Amino acid sequence: MKVIVSESYEELSQKAADLFISILQEKPQSKLGLATGSSPIGLYKNLIKAQKEGEISFHWAKTINLDEYVGISPQNEQSYQYFMNENLFNHVNIKKENTHLPKADTNDEKYAEEYNKLLDDFGTRDLQVLGLGPNGHLAFNEPGEFLNKRTSIVKLADATIEANSRFFESKDDVPKYAISMGMADAFNAKTLIVVASGKNKKDVVKKLIEGKEISPSFPASFLSLHPNCYLFVDKEAMGE
Ligand code: GLP
Repeated sequence: MKVIVSESYEELSQKAADLFISILQEKPQSKLGLATGSSPIGLYKNLIKAQKEGEISFHWAKTINLDEYVGISPQNEQSYQYFMNENLFNHVNIKKENTHLPKADTNDEKYAEEYNKLLDDFGTRDLQVLGLGPNGHLAFNEPGEFLNKRTSIVKLADATIEANSRFFESKDDVPKYAISMGMADAFNAKTLIVVASGKNKKDVVKKLIEGKEISPSFPASFLSLHPNCYLFVDKEAMGE
């Protein structure tokens, strides 16, 4: 795992975008794995700018996202579909039919199976963007006794409901279930671009960099198994 420390969130977002941009420039028909959360917003802003300035084009690219809440409509401002539209898709020249997010109306595993078929057809991505949950989760793969290999319906950890409640009116409004790629799916990319910023990521980043064990109780620890993983952090997330 290569760790790139930046002075600020802006610098981190630029460095992560530079890597993303170089991959897309080299292969305009890239298959791009995308993530939500506040961490990649700056990266996406830089991609929008680069596309507007003609540095890159999404015309031939395809995207696929990690996760989505169960039972949330795409029009709901807290849905990950809405997030992707607002923070990237509506502002770049990507064809909407080339973008993919999981969708599950209920807790039925059939939605996960459908997404796994889509992932199999999609194949290995050229890159995958990832954020880190403050509890070390990746996508919605929560710490536990085991981790899912493939896309599944998952129950959110209390810590995640708590952390994500900042986007909802109250904690009770946060959906309790999500549909999420499993670890094998999330890692099926040639390059992983992981972004973590701010003080509330300090502990998780420290554990990730210093940790000597790989354990399902800390899903982020599996990142060290990927042969081409870049972790972009700012000084606040790096701590001492
Ligand atoms: C969410 C998402 C993750 C994301 C994480 C961190 O729960 N499922 O994919 O990486 O939280 O979010 P943030 O970047 O807002 O801290």
